[in-house]
Amino acid sequence: MIEDIGKYPYRDVAVNNIYHPYLEKHIGNKKIGNILVCGGNEGGVNAEIDRHKHLDYEKMYHYEMMKYNIEYDYVIEENILNPQLEINNVNVIFADVGGGAKHHEKMMWDGTDGMIRILHNSFINNKLGIVVFVFFDGVGMDVFLDKTYGNYKSKDFFTTEVIWDDHHTSLRSSQRLDGVVFY
Ligand SMILES: C[S@@+](CC[C@H](N)C(=O)[O-])C[C@H]1O[C@@H](n2cnc3c(N)ncnc32)[C@H](O)[C@@H]1O
Repeated sequence: MIEDIGKYPYRDVAVNNIYHPYLEKHIGNKKIGNILVCGGNEGGVNAEIDRHKHLDYEKMYHYEMMKYNIEYDYVIEENILNPQLEINNVNVIFADVGGGAKHHEKMMWDGTDGMIRILHNSFINNKLGIVVFVFFDGVGMDVFLDKTYGNYKSKDFFTTEVIWDDHHTSLRSSQRLDGVVFY
């Protein structure tokens, strides 16, 4: 658990206090390839553009599993953890898979196959030779980024709770944030 929870008042701040330093450590100010993120409505899309605005990346791909959350034509209607569409040269995956029971039910994620496919596609034309994969758990999945996938190696795995106050209800909650670098 994070010790000084008062330091993490809002979800975005909490995420960024951990996620941004992790990106800084592994990417710094290098020019990178593509980024995969979650959320298809205006708020979700803009949150991710804003969260990654300090990075010099090629293109951001927005995934959304729920049709009713898709507000832009370019949003890809797929499970970010098990996509069929092939995207190459991916250096950052920020899978913020919040939602609830409906999402959990719809995900039906075949972990190993999905991960191997994402990594295989991400490493095609991957100039930096790494994929920074961060998973923010909003559906109660077990930790999976500490596992081995195919022949891909990994380093610097972390898992932590993120504490945040809900803007609307003033309730304090926590979610798990995991990260790893594949290479
Ligand atoms: C917690 S919201 C966060 C959106 C955005 N990342 C933000 O910070 O505002 C997660 C969004 O991703 C969608 N989502 C949840 N699980 C997903 C998955 N496995 N693949 C694609 N989209 C997913 C949800 O429907 C929701 O719109």
